[in-house]
Amino acid sequence: GKVVVIDHPLAQAILTTLRDRNTKQIEFRKGLVRLGRLMGYEIVKSMDIETVEVETPLGVKAKGVRIRDLDHIVIIQVLRAAMPLVEGLVKIFANARMGVVSARRVEESHVPGSLDFDIEITYVKVPRIFDDDILIIADPMLATGSTIISVLRQVLKYGAPKRTIIASVIATKYGIDRVLREYSFAEIYTVAIDPEINEKGYIVPGLGDAGDRAFG
Ligand code: PRP
Repeated sequence: GKVVVIDHPLAQAILTTLRDRNTKQIEFRKGLVRLGRLMGYEIVKSMDIETVEVETPLGVKAKGVRIRDLDHIVIIQVLRAAMPLVEGLVKIFANARMGVVSARRVEESHVPGSLDFDIEITYVKVPRIFDDDILIIADPMLATGSTIISVLRQVLKYGAPKRTIIASVIATKYGIDRVLREYSFAEIYTVAIDPEINEKGYIVPGLGDAGDRAFG
């Protein structure tokens, strides 16, 4: 399990806007789209490249690269907060096959202070996953990890990918460790690892409820 914190200054500046309570819905959503795009660039850096040669209009050969993995991407969005993040990821992974999972932390059964949530999954639609695929699960918040663990359990029924990447925006060390304990092969990409989870299971300082801020 590898953890990549995207420390590009632009990603950090966008995250700062998202954290700001004064940032309104449209700007918030645009920020998530832009982070999805930056996360896409970061993920591409970890892919194998092969060298190829093309002929330019001048009739001269030029050396270049090709990234075969770009044709073997499956993106799963965890509704609903992941929608803008995925909009950004798709700008980079234009050929991706896509799936959705609708998951909800059951707040009603949550004991205050508990670092575990019951997760209600009401819809799963995932394409077949092949062993040369790179699976990207997008969910901007990784707090206790309860959601991602439940989502992975469902999604991995559709096949065993070559790599499993969690695309998150804010994560916690607790949540990351918990996911990696259960799925040691997972790779977690995030823009920040925040220090705390409060009584209600919110990330602190965090950015609030990403779904509500993006969609009202
Ligand atoms: C939020 C968030 C993540 C999850 C993370 O979803 O969007 O999916 O919590 O928390 P965890 O790591 O502790 O499971 P929520 O259940 O609030 O649903 P929503 O996105 O529809 O608001």
